[in-house]
Amino acid sequence: MNTAVITGASKGIGRALAIELASRGFDLLLIARTESLLKNLSLEIESDFKVKSRYLALDLSNPASVDEIIRNIKENNIPIQVLVNNAGYAHWGNFSAMNLVEQEKMMFVNMNLMVKLSHHLLPYLMIHKKSYLLNVSSSSAYQSVPTLAIYCASKSFVLQFTRAIRHELKGNGVHVSCLSPGPTDTNFMDAAGMTTEKMKKNAAKFNMTSESVAKTAIDGLMKNKAEIIPGFLNLLQAKMVNFVPKQITENIAAGLYK
Ligand SMILES: NC(=O)c1ccc[n+]([C@@H]2O[C@H](COP(=O)([O-])OP(=O)(O)OC[C@H]3O[C@@H](n4cnc5c(N)ncnc54)[C@H](OP(=O)(O)O)[C@@H]3O)[C@@H](O)[C@H]2O)c1
Repeated sequence: MNTAVITGASKGIGRALAIELASRGFDLLLIARTESLLKNLSLEIESDFKVKSRYLALDLSNPASVDEIIRNIKENNIPIQVLVNNAGYAHWGNFSAMNLVEQEKMMFVNMNLMVKLSHHLLPYLMIHKKSYLLNVSSSSAYQSVPTLAIYCASKSFVLQFTRAIRHELKGNGVHVSCLSPGPTDTNFMDAAGMTTEKMKKNAAKFNMTSESVAKTAIDGLMKNKAEIIPGFLNLLQAKMVNFVPKQITENIAAGLYK
């Protein structure tokens, strides 16, 4: 069966996307750092669905990890029909006070990794009559957010890159979509260091589940939607920012993430 590669598949939205794709009959190649989580998820998926699930435990902030993924796909002759560039994370704080090396690692995972994997795997996708590329951005791609400066900029990069290659690939049979979730109940905030009571309370008011984000995402991908923004409020926010002065949206965002 044709295979879906999913980065950041050990937990959160990536895990839910893996289950959603398995439920639609795709074999899987799951990638993240935590081997035990990938192993358990693979076992769970193979017992719940009639698909094969492989995994690779890799630190994707290491540029050599891309070579390892491509080598594994070639060696095992894996027929890639879906690529989901989901791995990504944020570092919360004022830019000038943050560790630049850590920020650069984040930039690599959020942007370069997606570009490299897309470039290496598009030839595999283009072999098929129909295939799928899903890049995971964020509702924060639509505006700047003080204290998440690089993260939001990196997600704007994902959005613009995805829209451009979608246009270039028209007529090639590759469905290219950008998923921009809003707040979702995952490990994201803890990993970003967004752990104050106020932030958690604010997020809880709007949080969606990974499962509902993943279902909307894969429905949208199959329908070849350019941009997928799960949740009415997130969609409204992404549309409204075009009509509100930037200083106002930045003040609101700064207040939410203080
Ligand atoms: N949750 C939200 O509110 C939200 C909102 C908008 C967009 N997003 C986007 O959604 C995507 C998934 O995030 P999530 O919310 O599901 O967060 P999460 O629960 O923290 O999951 C992140 C995933 O990425 C993997 N990962 C992180 N760094 C990695 C590295 N260096 N090497 C390999 N794998 C790595 C993690 O696995 P390991 O720890 O096992 O490596 C995990 O599987 C991200 O691109 C994020 O920016 C999330």
